[in-house]
Amino acid sequence: MDQPRHVPVLLDRVLELFAPALHGKPAIVVDTTLGMGGHSDALLSAHPELTLIGLDRDPQAIEMAGERLARHGDRVHLVNVTYDHIDEAVEDLGYSRVDGVLMDLGVSSLQLDEEERGFAYSKDAPLDMRMSKGSGMTAADVLNTYSHGDLARILSTYGEERFAGKIASAVLKEREKEPFTNSGRLVELLYAVVPAASRRTGGHPAKRTFQALRIEVNGELESLRLALPAALGVLGVGGRIVVESYQSLEDRMVKQAFAELAKSKTPPGLPVELPGHGPEIKLLTKGAELANEQEIEDNPRAAPVRLRAAERIGDPR
Ligand SMILES: C[S@@+](CC[C@H](N)C(=O)[O-])C[C@H]1O[C@@H](n2cnc3c(N)ncnc32)[C@H](O)[C@@H]1O
Repeated sequence: MDQPRHVPVLLDRVLELFAPALHGKPAIVVDTTLGMGGHSDALLSAHPELTLIGLDRDPQAIEMAGERLARHGDRVHLVNVTYDHIDEAVEDLGYSRVDGVLMDLGVSSLQLDEEERGFAYSKDAPLDMRMSKGSGMTAADVLNTYSHGDLARILSTYGEERFAGKIASAVLKEREKEPFTNSGRLVELLYAVVPAASRRTGGHPAKRTFQALRIEVNGELESLRLALPAALGVLGVGGRIVVESYQSLEDRMVKQAFAELAKSKTPPGLPVELPGHGPEIKLLTKGAELANEQEIEDNPRAAPVRLRAAERIGDPR
């Protein structure tokens, strides 16, 4: 039996939302966050004529999902890029429009489980946290080189950490003695700095700092900011986009990007919609959808999920 951690989040709902756009035709879907290929595998099985383009920045995910999806043969194309390159990836494969885009944001269970990648605060491991292995700054580099102001800013913005200033001061003091290399020392520092009383509501004292470092190291919000318009740009009329976010900053970006395109740009007061000024998308979810209790029990990773979906209705391009 599969371990619960390998269950794709909100799988049934994702399949249900895509079905009208994919049913009974040779449709194309881009899974921009392939991970272990769970959602992709289910979509390919549900739609025998579907072609799937799978993107992931992590070469290990591409390799593992590639093995899992091999049984679907030439219906699968995998590309090792960040999702803001979705338009180039689609074009390079010879397509101009697609019928579905899936974004299941954040880290995969595989990445969390691999101790040496340093994503998990429960294990003492090198402070790496890069999803695209081998390129760019590590979490240790951030801790050892950022100014007090920059550290406090990322902890506060990306981690929504109330004690960002205090943590930044403690990090600067500690790194004078010796640079940070492993997560254990950082976790110890956070236990000392984050007041015990705040754990009752805020969870593990390292949770928010680890989230902030991961977002900074991987430029996650910048990548998402660029990816949303690019993804909506390759979606044909009737095509659907489904986004699953796991923290509020991501969800806010998705909400705002969708709200902007769901609005009419015809000046108010005109009796008819000006050509090319109508809404570009229709929202398919009312607010953000959450996982229900049963799903969270079966798959604890689903607890923070916020799902939003939309359909392209206009094509002013
Ligand atoms: C939550 S997992 C996806 C799990 C997948 N839906 C499944 O069913 O197995 C997120 C994946 O997105 C990838 N990822 C995160 N940020 C990315 C980005 N900017 N571009 C491409 N892939 C990204 C991660 O490497 C990770 O493998």
